[in-house]
Amino acid sequence: MKRLTIPAIRRRKKDGVTEQPIVMLTAYTARQAQLLDAHCDLLLVGDSLGQVIYGLPSSVPVTLEMMIAHGAAVVRGSYHAAVIVDMPFGTYEQSPQQAFANASRLLKETGCAGVKLEGGAAMAETVRFLNERGIPVQGHIGLTPQAVNVLGGYNARGRSEAEAAKIVADAKALDEAGAFSIVIEGVVETIAIEATRAIACPSIGIGGSAQCDGQVLVTEDMLGMFERVPRFVKKYADMGSVVSEAAAQYAAEVRDRSFPGIEQTYQPK
Ligand code: KIV
Ligand code: NA
Repeated sequence: MKRLTIPAIRRRKKDGVTEQPIVMLTAYTARQAQLLDAHCDLLLVGDSLGQVIYGLPSSVPVTLEMMIAHGAAVVRGSYHAAVIVDMPFGTYEQSPQQAFANASRLLKETGCAGVKLEGGAAMAETVRFLNERGIPVQGHIGLTPQAVNVLGGYNARGRSEAEAAKIVADAKALDEAGAFSIVIEGVVETIAIEATRAIACPSIGIGGSAQCDGQVLVTEDMLGMFERVPRFVKKYADMGSVVSEAAAQYAAEVRDRSFPGIEQTYQPK
């Protein structure tokens, strides 16, 4: 199986129609990537790893070094899906030049196929700058978690007419700047649909609409690793319980000395 390319994913949407929706999940580790790879078109090394792996309060403190370490692991663990790495807060907003310096490190040091960055029209010039210099960019608009300190929380966007109009304008600006796809997060469904129809490149919904050109979720969320998850998460498994029950059984067997048993110990020949 040859690895999917960014242009191939971009071409999934032809004349406004996407017959085969784009499947994207987050991955942070090599083993997770191995398990998800065959099922996904895109694997996203999301800066959500700040909360999911490092226990940080938001994605704001995530560093380029963290993204490089996990990005390289996911590339090593996959061979089919295209791997996208999130640019963390503070590594791209200052200028197109700053963004190129850091995005090129992500490509060179992880082997990923492209990067994702948050922001709409304000980031269009940067998206064009990177794309014209060999770095495919995925946009991310609507509820942009790196802006939590400005937004004041993680509430859905697009409820007022002005906000809705901005989301559609942001989508168009990124599309025209050459983004190969755009993540639309936490947006009123009608606005997610309107933005999807307004752009030539594929939209990837998360808390968007089934009419987006693809979907993404945080893998740990959809596996049921966390009790509290946003409305837009569907739990496809209950891994949290599986892990707790396994740990409880192990603990009981250690304490009553039934583990290790004969099968787990080395006996004289
Ligand atoms: O960091 C992340 O996991 C993301 C996805 C939720 C889109 O940006
Ligand atoms: Na992210």
